[in-house]
Amino acid sequence: MSARNSHRSYGRVARLFHWATAALILTAIPLGLIANRLPYDTAEALALKAQVFSLHKTLGVIVFFVALGRILWTLVETHPAPLHPERRLELWLARLVHWMLYISLVAVPLTGWVHHAAVTGFAPIWWPFGQGLPFVPQSESVAQAAGAAHWVFTKLMIASILLHIAGALKHHVIDRDDTLRRMTRGINAPATPIPVRRSTLPLFAALVLFGIGAGVAAMPRGEPVTQAITAPQTPAAGNWQVTEGTLGFGVTQMGQSVTGSFATWTADITFDEAATNGTHGSVTVTIDTGSLTLGSVTTQAKSADFFDTGTYPQAIFTADILPAASGYEANGTLTLRGTTVPVTLPFALTITGDTALMTGQTSLDRRDFGMGASYSDEASVGFGVTVDVALTATRQ
Ligand code: HEM
Ligand code: HEM
Repeated sequence: MSARNSHRSYGRVARLFHWATAALILTAIPLGLIANRLPYDTAEALALKAQVFSLHKTLGVIVFFVALGRILWTLVETHPAPLHPERRLELWLARLVHWMLYISLVAVPLTGWVHHAAVTGFAPIWWPFGQGLPFVPQSESVAQAAGAAHWVFTKLMIASILLHIAGALKHHVIDRDDTLRRMTRGINAPATPIPVRRSTLPLFAALVLFGIGAGVAAMPRGEPVTQAITAPQTPAAGNWQVTEGTLGFGVTQMGQSVTGSFATWTADITFDEAATNGTHGSVTVTIDTGSLTLGSVTTQAKSADFFDTGTYPQAIFTADILPAASGYEANGTLTLRGTTVPVTLPFALTITGDTALMTGQTSLDRRDFGMGASYSDEASVGFGVTVDVALTATRQ
């Protein structure tokens, strides 16, 4: 039995590639479906979901490399001729399905991987080469587009596999020919088949189907994509107008740091370089909690367990601006999830003419706000939350 294909048989290498990819894919698909549907309402449930997702992603990345090897091998190999070249329609359909499978072997893992690389956090790939991908930016919109494509392409892949298995069974059970045995045992087909001209039409049709799938994935759905960084809208109060800024935060999830931000917030700032009664002014920041994004776990962060954005659509930080050892500090309270907690935000300020640049950082404890009460240890979600503020304001 040869390692190489002939006109009449599949060689050992082609068969090994075929059954290795088949086994990996037929494991990755149920893992993806199950992982996506597992609950995450307790620390244990979240840990299990992350494990299943990590396994799914790791297998998926392996598939990608095995698939590349397989495709390169196929390009240099002879294709065994069909056993029934006279059945034109059947042959055409089989080739269409084979092309669908080849395309999905690359497109499915790649879209999953791009989705993973574009967002931080949750369920790492189990390998030492990092979680990012060259040329893939950390971007919510890239992640959403790749995630939608992964979802649609997995459906095209599943449909193709079902048709493919049905075809193989039809040959084996109804036609009682050697099509399946040629792939399982590598036997030579009994008669020397007549090689037929290979048309490129099935490849073209498969590409069109994937193009339609990509179009469906790109169609706008329910929630609009929020921009991670947008200029806040400042009300016409205070004597400084914020022109641009970011309000970010970071947490540790399953040992990985995840960063997020609020896209919509307003800041009402009164500030004077000269202190009056020991105070430089005051600030009130109103945050639209629904505008938050947090890596791949935005939905979980918005849920009742955490920010509960449905019940508490706003968070408010109100503080006096006081001098501090290295710059200033905003000393006041943060009201989040209906709970008010004292918060101090030390910050640095550089004023050039009428433009001020401010950067500040502070740490909070999620438990002070009753967040993630069912995640009672730090292994799933850390207690500490870092808050990063950076803004530019102009004097009014
Ligand atoms: C050939 C390999 C792969 C196959 C067959 C596959 C298949 C699937 C399937 C069937 C789903 C469930 C879709 C649904 O719920 O309807 C899924 C979801 C998912 N897969 Fe994969 N996948 C593969 C590779 C990857 C890779 C390499 C990654 C990342 C590195 C990945 C990341 C994900 C993620 C994050 C989801 C959840 C998407 C969401 O939030 O909707 N997958 N995959
Ligand atoms: C139980 C599952 C499967 C069975 C019984 C099966 C059976 C077969 C058979 C009998 C052939 C040879 C067809 C011929 O000679 O014309 C074949 C070819 C092929 N199979 Fe599968 N297969 C299975 C799963 C898969 C999976 C999961 C994939 C990939 C996602 C796949 C991809 C392919 C491809 C691309 C070819 C064409 C090989 C070539 O270029 O000649 N198969 N399969």
